[in-house]
Amino acid sequence: MVKRLFAHVRAIDCNMATFNIQPVQRFAGANTSIRRPREIACFSYDDQRRFLLGDSSMAYYYTPNLPADLNKGYSTFQKLDDVADEHLDALLDTLVAHEQETEKKCEVDIVTWRGMMTKILTAPYDNMNGFEMNATCFQGTIFIEENNEYKNQQKEIQRKRGSPPGMAPQELMMYWGYKFENLAVLRKTWDESTREEIEGREDDIVNNAAQYCSVVRTGIGSTRMVLGGEVDAIWDSKPSKKDAPINWVELKTSAQIRNDKDMLKYERKLLKFWAQSFLLGVPKIIVGFRDQDGICHSLEELDTASIPGKVLSVGRRSWDGNVCINFTGAFLEWLKQTINREGTWRIRRKDKSPVIEVYQIEEQGHGDILSPAFKAWRAHT
Ligand code: A3P
Ligand code: MG
Ligand code: MG
Repeated sequence: MVKRLFAHVRAIDCNMATFNIQPVQRFAGANTSIRRPREIACFSYDDQRRFLLGDSSMAYYYTPNLPADLNKGYSTFQKLDDVADEHLDALLDTLVAHEQETEKKCEVDIVTWRGMMTKILTAPYDNMNGFEMNATCFQGTIFIEENNEYKNQQKEIQRKRGSPPGMAPQELMMYWGYKFENLAVLRKTWDESTREEIEGREDDIVNNAAQYCSVVRTGIGSTRMVLGGEVDAIWDSKPSKKDAPINWVELKTSAQIRNDKDMLKYERKLLKFWAQSFLLGVPKIIVGFRDQDGICHSLEELDTASIPGKVLSVGRRSWDGNVCINFTGAFLEWLKQTINREGTWRIRRKDKSPVIEVYQIEEQGHGDILSPAFKAWRAHT
């Protein structure tokens, strides 16, 4: 194992280590073991982005009426201004509350947002998009956040680039995604909601600040993780039995498929849908297919676990889920060896690069990755 691990490593100088993504075929074959994600805690943001422990912002799936005009209400969109850096704060606050309740320290190798792990899981087949994360090692756990400066720079690049000719403006297309989510959920269970509320969903003001976030314990290979991520809706209601799987639903919109080129594009998108849902244990994805004018005409229900098999058997084989999982298992194993002392670190993949680079940016402390409240709590335990 040690020999195999170090085969990936190419030190550039004493401060930088690199992990080769390519060639990805070396990660083909039987799967590294995976642990089914189990929710250990949850938190919500309300529509003013106030943090609340618990499931107050959880939403219930309720089939939308079709066709649906996803443009409706765009002028009243209450869009979250997400330029400020939220670090890992909400996730750490939830972890503190969980540790206080269970009176037990949550011992894992990695704590991060699901979005960071999605970038790693999809890295073998996403050769275009780079990423930058900050990491720190504290009490034997690596905490990883997105590098907010990099995220804002990327957004600015995208904004300047604009939409390709013939396509709707980016901001409007983003609204379609949130509008679809809004049309497909109820804030209360259907027996609590009145018919007027259900039918009135179409006139609701879309607000993307409110979120329900699930905090799960999971693992890939020998790496144990706590991941926090948004879940769009639940199919029924939370099971009363502890640790039973939860019927979460991920909602997505996608362009209608008109030809082979569209099909391949959709298959590539499925990699992101699958990775995102797989990591939190979301079993079902509901895709709303919309035309170029933002009218949603049809729905498709996808069983998350069966997506990789379908891509390999009836698709174009543009990606292999086993490769993603094996790659992630090996990368995380290597990361644990690399980020092994105090200080802050950068985990970076440049756009189109075949390697992930890891280097130390501060020799001491934990930067702003860990909140003062979290450090204070852990200092007591
Ligand atoms: P779609 O996924 O239907 O396009 P999520 O599906 O991850 O819950 O995200 C909900 C919506 O947020 C997306 O709907 C999209 O409109 C917007 N969104 C999420 N991530 C985005 C990104 N990286 N860039 C632009 N819009 C994004
Ligand atoms: Mg969402
Ligand atoms: Mg969604």
